[in-house]
Amino acid sequence: MRKLTQTVTALAFAASAGLATAADVEVLHWWTSGGEAAALNVLKKDLEGQNIGWKDMPVAGGGGTQAMTVLRARVTSGNPPTAVQMLGFDITDWAKEDSLANLNALAKKEGWDSVVPEALQFFSKHKGQWVASPVNVHSTNWVWANKSVLDGLGIKPPQTWDELVAAMKKVKASGKVAVAHGGQAWQDATIFDAVVMSTGGPAFYKKAFIDLDPKALGSDTMKQAFDRMSVIRGYVDDNFSGRDWNLATAMVINGNAAFQFMGDWAKGEFLNAGKKPGRDFLCFRFPGTQRQVTFNSDQFAMFDQGGKVSQEQAALASAIMSPTFQSAFNVAKGSVPARVDVSDAAFDDCGKQGMKDLAAAAKSGNLFGSMAHGHANPASVKNAIYDVVTAHFNGEYDSSTAIEELVSAVEISR
Ligand code: BGC
Repeated sequence: MRKLTQTVTALAFAASAGLATAADVEVLHWWTSGGEAAALNVLKKDLEGQNIGWKDMPVAGGGGTQAMTVLRARVTSGNPPTAVQMLGFDITDWAKEDSLANLNALAKKEGWDSVVPEALQFFSKHKGQWVASPVNVHSTNWVWANKSVLDGLGIKPPQTWDELVAAMKKVKASGKVAVAHGGQAWQDATIFDAVVMSTGGPAFYKKAFIDLDPKALGSDTMKQAFDRMSVIRGYVDDNFSGRDWNLATAMVINGNAAFQFMGDWAKGEFLNAGKKPGRDFLCFRFPGTQRQVTFNSDQFAMFDQGGKVSQEQAALASAIMSPTFQSAFNVAKGSVPARVDVSDAAFDDCGKQGMKDLAAAAKSGNLFGSMAHGHANPASVKNAIYDVVTAHFNGEYDSSTAIEELVSAVEISR
């Protein structure tokens, strides 16, 4: 019944937008891991049920860096995809170029304004117009742990940096890998999100990453955060370079490693492998960031097809915003709904905690856009920070050099 209603709504909307024929919807995305593909399937099925064909345009590469490069090439050659998965300031950048379709009529009809939180609307809207529909809210300051590895070594989930260091030491001494990590710039930056928040606290995170205050970027606190990255570097295995994030998750799933510091898309991999939170794996906030949430939201932007929203674009946007879809999709993805009116009933304990943490952080002023995932700055600044964090993680810079480089890289990129 819901699907029928959606179809009718989408058709009515398309008709009112002056459009006729249905076509495939071509979707550019970077959801290529097992868990991500399982979640994406929920969306594909939803559209199939509405007789809308799905033309898949996957571009592998966590965090979406490669996907955004492919997108730029497609748009430059005059052949943009119908719909594109996007993060934060990338949406704003494309909206500023006047490339995105205006979804206002649909948003108004479906009342998106009253169910999508302000922090997401900041990115979904440009100059007051809806230009993207948010699928979810992820957050980056999580730890994923193998329960039997921790139990076997008598390790409780660490609550502070010192406890984390003690735990990593114990795991390493046992011969297992303490930290499963893939040496790719966006993964290094994902850890840095959590380490900076833990080291400097929320006011510092904001000054450094959101306000880009050179004093904060070049401070002793930032130097300490880099020192902590070096400590973590001492607990990854020798083969970490270039490893994809989901292969790092697999190391925790298989019990070869104890911890992964990663966004909650990692949960999708555990679930896809048949693992249960509390029984097989644990999720907890990065030590010292228990009250904070560094978030990113996957949104779908529709590329303007000559000033109109096509029928299939409207159907896709409408499907994404439906509360039943938001529940089913996010249960599989590891994220939480982008709508505030979706029940947590179908979610596991990690998902329920994610929803609770998000609401509490928003209320207490502890919700911040993730630097690593494009919600603190435009890509130019984000990439400049990536370069410094990765060079430091790989030993090219010591921490004193890293803060100097950070200040100048950010300055140049602005
Ligand atoms: C996206 C997630 C995705 C992750 C790894 C993040 O930037 O928000 O949806 O699962 O990258 O690819």
